[in-house]
Amino acid sequence: MLTIAVSKGRIYEEALPLLAEAGIVPIDDPKTCRKLILATTREDVQLVIIRATDVPTFVEYGAADLGIAGKDVLLEHGAESLYEPLDLNIACCRLMTAAHKGAPEHQGRIRVATKYVKIAQSYFASKGIQAEIIKLYGSMELAPLVGLADCIVDLVDTGNTLKANDLEPRELIMNISSRLVVNKAAMKMKHEAISALLIQFEKTLANR
Ligand code: ATP
Ligand code: PRP
Repeated sequence: MLTIAVSKGRIYEEALPLLAEAGIVPIDDPKTCRKLILATTREDVQLVIIRATDVPTFVEYGAADLGIAGKDVLLEHGAESLYEPLDLNIACCRLMTAAHKGAPEHQGRIRVATKYVKIAQSYFASKGIQAEIIKLYGSMELAPLVGLADCIVDLVDTGNTLKANDLEPRELIMNISSRLVVNKAAMKMKHEAISALLIQFEKTLANR
């Protein structure tokens, strides 16, 4: 049995066509059923549905053999313990700094609100900027509006969320897409099945 960890929401929606091309179609729809383990049309493959930020943990500990996770989540988790053989080119967005529209560049030590504490720390350190990082779990855009932080580090796609909150994008930290990750022991123990899946995904991606 191969277990693939996927998060609900945009990664799930964008991963479905890729999985379908490999003959993997979930029997139940996680939007309408409360099951967390989904059987698929392939008897040897099941999906586990978890939070996006938990995907690296499940794969690292071998609770899932494979997983699909954003590069943002992988970097923040520190994914040295995982193989990352494929960029799936789905759930694409940018990790950026953003601040109140028109606000001057902050001088000296700045306060940054983000859920990407490690990434933000190393980004500002690499620029020689002293930053106090404030960890939030969501609604980062609110922080500069209420004086909690000078700027935020968050994902930007259309830019609509920033615009709606009177913020503007400032610096690009990195482009983000979702990656296929594989547990290192599973890669050895289930080599044949995992390699076949990788080859199938590569083919699908090459035809896109
Ligand atoms: P969790 O549930 O663990 O808190 P989350 O709410 O951030 O995670 P999603 O919003 O589904 O989960 O995001 C999953 C991944 O999709 C992110 O890690 C990122 O790689 C990508 N992503 C997030 N926001 C966007 C966006 N607006 N456009 C495109 N991709 C995005
Ligand atoms: C993500 C991200 C931004 C938004 C950016 O949030 O945290 O808030 O998307 O997308 P945009 O540039 O197209 O507006 P998401 O929609 O995942 O909501 P969340 O706060 O629940 O993570």
